[in-house]
Amino acid sequence: MSGRIPQQFIDDLVSRVDIVEVIDLRVPLKKAGREYQACCPFHSEKTPSFTVSPDKQFYHCFGCGAHGTAIGFLMEYDRMEFVEAVEELAKLVGLEVPREGAGPAPVRREQDDSKPLYALLDRAEKFFRQQLKQHPDAPRAVEYLKGRGLSGEIARDFGVGFAPPGWDNLFNALGRENEKNLIRAGLVVEKEGGKRYDRFRDRIMFPIRDRRGRVIAFGGRVLGDDKPKYLNSPETPVFHKGRELYGLYEARQALRQLPRLLVVEGYMDVVALAQFDVRYAVATLGTSVTQEHLEQLFRHSDEVVFCFDGDRAGRDAAWRGLENALPLMRDGRTLRFMFMPEGEDPDTLIRQVGREGFEQAIERALTLDEFLVEHFKQQADFSRIDGQARLVELSKPLLARLPSGIYRHKVVERLAPLANMQPELLQQMLGGSTPFTPAQPRRAAKQTRRTADATRQPPSQVRNAITLLLQHPQLAAQVEDTTALAGLQQPGVGLLLEMLELLRQRPNLNTSALLEHWRGRDEERHLFTLAQRELLLDAEQDDVEKEFLGALRGLRQQLLKQRYLELSRKPLSQMSAEEKMEYQSLMQEMRG
Ligand code: UTP
Ligand code: MN
Repeated sequence: MSGRIPQQFIDDLVSRVDIVEVIDLRVPLKKAGREYQACCPFHSEKTPSFTVSPDKQFYHCFGCGAHGTAIGFLMEYDRMEFVEAVEELAKLVGLEVPREGAGPAPVRREQDDSKPLYALLDRAEKFFRQQLKQHPDAPRAVEYLKGRGLSGEIARDFGVGFAPPGWDNLFNALGRENEKNLIRAGLVVEKEGGKRYDRFRDRIMFPIRDRRGRVIAFGGRVLGDDKPKYLNSPETPVFHKGRELYGLYEARQALRQLPRLLVVEGYMDVVALAQFDVRYAVATLGTSVTQEHLEQLFRHSDEVVFCFDGDRAGRDAAWRGLENALPLMRDGRTLRFMFMPEGEDPDTLIRQVGREGFEQAIERALTLDEFLVEHFKQQADFSRIDGQARLVELSKPLLARLPSGIYRHKVVERLAPLANMQPELLQQMLGGSTPFTPAQPRRAAKQTRRTADATRQPPSQVRNAITLLLQHPQLAAQVEDTTALAGLQQPGVGLLLEMLELLRQRPNLNTSALLEHWRGRDEERHLFTLAQRELLLDAEQDDVEKEFLGALRGLRQQLLKQRYLELSRKPLSQMSAEEKMEYQSLMQEMRG
C-alpha cells in the first residue's frame, strides 16, 4: 500500500504543534505552575486532575489515567482516526502532509475532497437564510414559523432558512459547475435519466452542524401536511447520522455550562425548547440513540435525560438507549428517562406547561434503576417462586455491561427487593463475588500513587535512564558510544538503545514526538507512564544531566559486574591469558 505518512513528518509535526493550544480550543485550560489543568474531558469530576504539560507536550489525567500526545488527544476527544488527526494538526500549523510512495492515499483524497463540500454546505445555509428574508414566497414560510411560535431570534440562533419552491434555485445559486460536489453534499439529486434538481424544495430548512459548528447537512420540513414531513440529507462524506446530534453545537454556544443534556426526537422539539429557554436539548436524526451519541453526550455533561414518547415505540427506543448507555455509566453520571404524555411531544408540552413545568417534569423523570425495575416488572412476576431465577437471568447480561462501582451497587440494591431478595444474595447469584469497594476519591488515589512510587524498590538504572531520556531527549547527546551497553543483559536495554539510536539520528525530537514512535507497540503504555513520572529532582538542567550521567555510570558498573560474573563461572584452567588479565582488572575496578 502506498501513501504512508513518513515518520519524519510526524516527528516534525508533533514538535511544531503546541498541545496546549490544541487542547485549549476544545477544553479550556487554566495555568497551574508549569502546567495547565482542566476537569478531565474523559471522565466526570469536580476538581481538575487533567494536566497538560507544555514541556513534554502530552496530557495526563491523574483521575482516570487517560494520557496521550496531541495526536492521541484528537483521536480520543474528536474521535478521529490517526491519519485524520495528523491532517488536522498539519492544517493547524500550515503543513502539507506528504506521502511515501506514489499515488495519493485514499484517506487523504477523501479528506481533501470534503473541503469543497463544507464550503458548499455553508453557502447553502446562507442561501436558505437569505431566501427566508427575500423570496416572494418567504412570507408563507415566516407565517408558518410564527404559527409555530418561533421568534426571529431563535430562528437566527439555529440558522433556520427557507428552500423556495422550484427545481433549481439552489443549484443555480451555487453554480452549475459545482454539480459533482453538490450531489456529493446531498444538496442536488441525480435521477437515473440524468436529471438533476434541488433536493430541498418549498421547505423550512434546519441546518445540522458538527461539533465545530460547520454545516454538514440539512433537515427540511414541509410547510403543510404533505409527505414526507421531513426530508433529511443522505449520508455523505461529511455527514454520518449515527454520530451527529442536532442542536449540540447550538447548546454549547448558548450555555457555558450545560446543566444536562436532554435528548429529544425532533428538530422542532429542540428549537421550541430553546424558544422557552430550555437550551440544552439535542435530537438524534431519525435514528435511535447510538453508543457514539452517548459517548458524545456524556463527554459534554454528566447528566443525560432521554425524552421519548410514552407509547410502545418510545419505550422500546428508550430501552435500546439504556442498553447502549450501560457501559458508560461510571460513578457520577446519571441517565434518566422522561416519557411524554399521550399525544404530546416536548414542543407541544412546553407550550402548555412552560419552562418551569417542563423542568419539573424533567426532575420527575425515571432514574436508570427505576426504569430497569419498571421494565423488569413487565417481564415476569417476580413474587412467584421462579421469580428469583428469572430476575437473575434478566439482569445478568445487563449488569455485566455496567462498570463496577457505586452505581452498579445501587442498581443491585434496587433490583433485589423485586424478587424479595437480599442485595448480597442477588450480587452473589449474579456471579459478582468481588466485594463492593467504593471508588477511591481522586486525592486519595493520587496519594497512593505517590507512596507506591516511593516505596517500590528503587527503579532500575535502565528504567531511570529511559525516564530521563524521555523527559529530556537532549540528554542523548551525552552518550557517545552505545556498543558496550548493548552487551548488558537486563530488561529494557533494547528499548534504551533504540531510543538512543533514534535520538542520534533525530536529536530534536521532543517527548511527545518520541512517544509517537512507539504508537501501537507493546511498550507504548509503559513509556507514557515513565514520561509522566515525577522525577525526584529539580528540573534544573544541571541536575538532570548529573542524574543521567549517574545512571549511565551505574549501567557501566553493572556491565562490568555482569562480565565479571561471567568470567568467574569459567574454570581458571579454561581461561585464556587475555581473559585472566581482564578478570584481574575487573576485580580491581569493582573494588575501587
Ligand atoms: P416527528 O414527526 O415527531 O417530528 O419526527 P416533529 O419534530 O414533532 O415534527 P413537527 O412537530 O410535526 O414539525 C421526529 C423526527 O423524526 C424525523 C425528523 O428528524 C423529526 O424531527 N422524521 C420525521 C423524518 O426524518 N422524516 C419524517 O418524515 C418524519
Ligand atoms: Mn412535533
